[in-house]
Amino acid sequence: EAAVESGSARTELDTQEYVERLEARLGKSREMMRVVLNKAKSDPKVVALAEGTDEKMIRAAYQLEEQGIARPVLIGREERIQRTAQRLGLEFEPSIADPRNGDWEHYADRLYELRQRKGLTRSEAGELIRRDSNYFASVMVEEGDADAMLTGLTHHYPSALRPPLQVIGTAEDADYAAGVYLLTFRNRVIFAADTTVNLDPTSEVLAEITKHTAELARSFNVEPTAALLSYSNFGSVDNEGTRKPREAVRMLHDDPAVDFPVDGEMQADTAVVEDILEGTYDFSELDDPANVLVFPNLEAGNIGYKLLQRLGGAEAIGPMLVGMAKPVHVLQRGDEVKDIVNLAGVAVVDAQNE
Ligand code: ACO
Repeated sequence: EAAVESGSARTELDTQEYVERLEARLGKSREMMRVVLNKAKSDPKVVALAEGTDEKMIRAAYQLEEQGIARPVLIGREERIQRTAQRLGLEFEPSIADPRNGDWEHYADRLYELRQRKGLTRSEAGELIRRDSNYFASVMVEEGDADAMLTGLTHHYPSALRPPLQVIGTAEDADYAAGVYLLTFRNRVIFAADTTVNLDPTSEVLAEITKHTAELARSFNVEPTAALLSYSNFGSVDNEGTRKPREAVRMLHDDPAVDFPVDGEMQADTAVVEDILEGTYDFSELDDPANVLVFPNLEAGNIGYKLLQRLGGAEAIGPMLVGMAKPVHVLQRGDEVKDIVNLAGVAVVDAQNE
């Protein structure tokens, strides 16, 4: 009986501890998002929601408008959007851009202008504008009729990403886009990159991703400390794979614009465990555990963040696309309304900084 009693006491304690941990973690991610959403509310921007007929997008548009986080434009068939909004009982007058109502020939002209030397004909441009809302939203942003765009909920990630890459392209100081997840734990936050775009980045690309991810961390009021990850610690294994992040670190150390601590290549535990950094690797540039983790390739990045989210219990916000000329975020299929609202907030803050 005693054993049963102590067992149930322990279970209760475990449950209580679990709830406390959960609350602390959610508290951290809510706190991070509160900073961003409050910034967004100070000057809400126009965000094009490419999948405007999707129920979750309509719900998100309602919340964004209600809370003053963004001025959403739903792209899609007007009657369908209105009907769905009514069925959902959402009382608002959504702003809608219907690609099929004939007002958008100038978008087709613009798309043709941008892509005619990439093999696109004028009639194909017209078709894309009418039928693929990712092209429509991309041109809308490129033309300045919207400040940012969100897509991805109903598309495969690469097919949602390709139109903005082709039409909006990268920022002046960037050649590559990359996908970043913000992972919040009880007492720390991690920005993980690249988790969604570049299959096998070179050293130059890794260096660029590191800088853009550090910038993103600052937009969340987090001072970046970056680690380039590998299965090797500072040359303990020397081959083509481990040389890539090592070379990227050399580039970053030589770059006068880099004003945050960065080091590597290093193993993931070296990057996040203070005792290892202070002990065996006390020569490292990192005085604190890293909060920007740059993975050596897409397999590592994508697998790594998902393990942290599912087994490490992190709350994940993202993927946030960095390096683009205008704010674009490609959601994952199955993302929830809160993910759309959060990413729209991030996009608005980005647009404010343009
Ligand atoms: N950064 C910026 N621009 C790029 C990049 C990049 N990393 N890669 C391609 N582009 C540009 C190209 O320059 C090109 O522009 P252009 O036509 O004006 O010259 C345009 O994008 C299209 O390039 P393609 O070479 O035709 O496109 P590709 O077929 O290589 O597709 C893509 C690019 C979609 C990014 C591809 O690399 C890819 O599929 N990446 C992996 C995506 C993925 O599966 N992610 C993981 C799962 S998603 C998840 O978990 C959320």
